[in-house]
Amino acid sequence: MNVLKGKVALVTGGSGSIGGAIAERLALEGATVVVSYVGFEEGAERTLDAVRKAGADGMTLALDQRDPESIESAIRQVVDQYSRLDILVNNAAWNIGIPFPDLDALTPDIWDQVLETNLRGPFLLARAASPALKASQGYVINISSAGGVSPGSSSIAYSSSKAGLNHLTRCLAVGMAPEVKVNCIAPGLVEGTRMANRLPERSAEGARRQAVLKRVGALEDIAEQVVTFCRSDSVTGQTIVIDGGMPGAMR
Ligand SMILES: NC(=O)c1ccc[n+]([C@@H]2O[C@H](COP(=O)([O-])OP(=O)(O)OC[C@H]3O[C@@H](n4cnc5c(N)ncnc54)[C@H](OP(=O)(O)O)[C@@H]3O)[C@@H](O)[C@H]2O)c1
Repeated sequence: MNVLKGKVALVTGGSGSIGGAIAERLALEGATVVVSYVGFEEGAERTLDAVRKAGADGMTLALDQRDPESIESAIRQVVDQYSRLDILVNNAAWNIGIPFPDLDALTPDIWDQVLETNLRGPFLLARAASPALKASQGYVINISSAGGVSPGSSSIAYSSSKAGLNHLTRCLAVGMAPEVKVNCIAPGLVEGTRMANRLPERSAEGARRQAVLKRVGALEDIAEQVVTFCRSDSVTGQTIVIDGGMPGAMR
């Protein structure tokens, strides 16, 4: 505990399920946590309450990562407030369910919205945060998806955006070295999330059955891996899949 005392973390999409769990875990390790949201302010406030209950400081922050100006302003606000930034967790994402064979339903507008949010956004956030992260010898942790490793997820656009995020991780690991470590977590289905709760129980059960460990990931598994990356000064450019062991995603 308290390995991150004195560090400042920004968790994008901290109003959501996985971002909320990551924010709370970072707080338990002693970090000050900035929790961003785009529309669900109440969710961000709830996460901030959990951060404070864990004994840490923090604040909420409005951020639309489709908007480059909003990104610049968000990073500026964090650095103005705390004079440093050590950890950027690029967790926020947007998706929409479009079956892969329904190519016509995946319009240019939807494609752009998914790619702007899930791929361009994390890049622009890393770019804006780079001076502060270099100064603190910090970390970027991207939250991708097993759908970026094997072709299956809510849509072709989402899968492609997450495959892009996996490679962006490697590219940024080169581009932000030697000061900043850049890694990625690619979850399969994560129990207890809004996304998992929307799935019919038989789909979730199917995922548990296919996994070689007979379980899928839990919120704590993702949050724990974030902390593990933040403890290491020798790992960068890596994507780790957390899905209970799906043979198709073992690359
Ligand atoms: N849940 C799973 O089983 C699962 C599996 C694989 C990968 N993932 C990945 O894990 C991450 C978190 O997923 P989750 O399940 O926790 O999702 P979630 O509960 O739906 O949260 C998504 C978050 O992204 C934020 N967001 C959406 N559009 C945004 C934008 N334009 N700018 C800034 N923030 C935006 C949302 O903000 P508001 O709340 O304010 O709308 C929310 O905080 C995502 O990257 C997702 O792709 C999840």
